[in-house]
Amino acid sequence: MTRLPTLGRLNHAGVATPSIARSLETYARLFGAKACGEPFDLPAQGVKVCFVDAPNTQIELIEPLDGTSPIAAFLARNPAGGQHHLCFEVEDLEAAMGALTAEGARILGSPRIGAHGTRIVFVHPKDTGGVLVELMEAPDGGH
Ligand code: CO
Repeated sequence: MTRLPTLGRLNHAGVATPSIARSLETYARLFGAKACGEPFDLPAQGVKVCFVDAPNTQIELIEPLDGTSPIAAFLARNPAGGQHHLCFEVEDLEAAMGALTAEGARILGSPRIGAHGTRIVFVHPKDTGGVLVELMEAPDGGH
């Protein structure tokens, strides 16, 4: 039997938005929450991102860089933006991918560098009850 990966800390909840600036204004006005750092581009994923701190996790605001971004397709279906994915840390990305694949879940693409500078993959939402799940190699291996 394959050893299943331990679901680690909820690193962030991904939220798609047509405007990071407008979302930051909303989070500040309604929740007194501030951006941690400036928005930055992740050209390989076709997005600009900015994190907002909550005490136990972060919100990742994601804006498309152009019309070819997967986030642009999401916004075409949800023009006001919306909740896009959940990101959990895992100790060992290869082990997690192997276990998930053995259980029949589809991994989308191959590992790439995520917004926190560690490797990430996405799991097909049709295999996770409708939620796009991002698995992220914890910066310190989860320890
Ligand atoms: Co993310």
